[in-house]
Amino acid sequence: MKEVKVALLGCGTVGTQVARLLGEQAEEFAARSGAKLSLVGIAVRDASAPRDPAIDTALLTEDAESLVDDADIVIELIGGIEPARAHILRAFAAGASVVTGNKALLAAHGPELYEAAAEADVDLYYEAAVAGAIPVVYGLRESLAGDRITQVLGIVNGTTNYILDEMTVAGLSFDEALAQAQELGYAEADPTADVDGLDAAAKCAILASLAFHTRVALDDVHVHGIREIAAEDIKAAAASGHVIKLLANARRREGGIELSVGPTLIPVDHPLATVHGSFNAVVIEAEAADRLMFYGRGAGGAPTASAVLSDVVAAAAHKVSGGHAPRELIYGALPILPPAETIARFQLELAVEDKIGVLTEVSGVFAKHGVSISAVAQNYVRSDKRGETCRLTVTTHEALRRDLEATLAELEASSFVAEVVHVIRVEEN
Ligand code: HSE
Repeated sequence: MKEVKVALLGCGTVGTQVARLLGEQAEEFAARSGAKLSLVGIAVRDASAPRDPAIDTALLTEDAESLVDDADIVIELIGGIEPARAHILRAFAAGASVVTGNKALLAAHGPELYEAAAEADVDLYYEAAVAGAIPVVYGLRESLAGDRITQVLGIVNGTTNYILDEMTVAGLSFDEALAQAQELGYAEADPTADVDGLDAAAKCAILASLAFHTRVALDDVHVHGIREIAAEDIKAAAASGHVIKLLANARRREGGIELSVGPTLIPVDHPLATVHGSFNAVVIEAEAADRLMFYGRGAGGAPTASAVLSDVVAAAAHKVSGGHAPRELIYGALPILPPAETIARFQLELAVEDKIGVLTEVSGVFAKHGVSISAVAQNYVRSDKRGETCRLTVTTHEALRRDLEATLAELEASSFVAEVVHVIRVEEN
């Protein structure tokens, strides 16, 4: 049986599980790929640091470059841009295939990496970069190659789903839920990439590229995080039969594609509303297949290792029998719509004066800017900060974001609106 030499770059939570499973299930991997997968080394920054007992310390090295030069398959789990990018390009130049989970690198340098892999006639696989164990990259790229995709809508960040879910189910404040996520190891000490939506945006860019056969970069995604979501927003959502989720949305419509990551109201009976804790889920709408939903663990050592190892098996099979991973397909070349040109439904909560004519004034502003109202509810809210205020919750039909922004600007400047408390996108069933 042919031997395929596997080099592992990085030995954190995921790398440790990859090394463990490669050892424990060696025979099954050989049977599935047709090759004996030999882990020839693990590159780390500090070879003397304490390691999980599953790691054979004799394999550790601080010389990543020599390891890469001697491998048939390189698994990149270092994260970040450099030196990960340089190691991957070096691996391609040396004729090795690469398996990576590095969404930030793919979102920033995907085209360069794809081209280098194609030129070297080797594989670039990245199932672990999006939604951990969920086979959504394979699903979009291969299972759905016979269909035309119209939308990808997903919970692709477990940390923020955990935080929003705790706020919804246990009534925690954002700060309390974030602290709990940090204690449990979901959120980093610096939670910026998760709570500000950047991690989800990188995944959104990757999913959209695959779904629409169009190059999409991180900067193409309109991003809004969840820091501003308050306990009262969660309560208001519940009162209107919704929950708030951080959703990545990539949608094809006439004129181009819309890309966004942001807090979104979804009805309590939407399939994504049932995704609790740190789980991820992705809903794909395709013309022929209709709706599909992928659900599972989006992070964690063993779940992410499962995705990495499926790619390793595929890449090893190509080393034995020939063939290669699907190349980047960008024939779609669809225009990416600027945020102002995107269409969505919105819910606005306005603190207003309770006096004759206010509803007419408010609805007049919407009408003036061509934004159609689908529902209005009026409530009284007692809060320590503002005393008792009259609240209008206005839900719109689909509107151009440009028109919505103009409506908001006029409402904010008007004498009858004390405050625009929040504006949240609404996604229907
Ligand atoms: N930090 C991510 C999450 C996992 O919370 O889902 C890695 O992308």
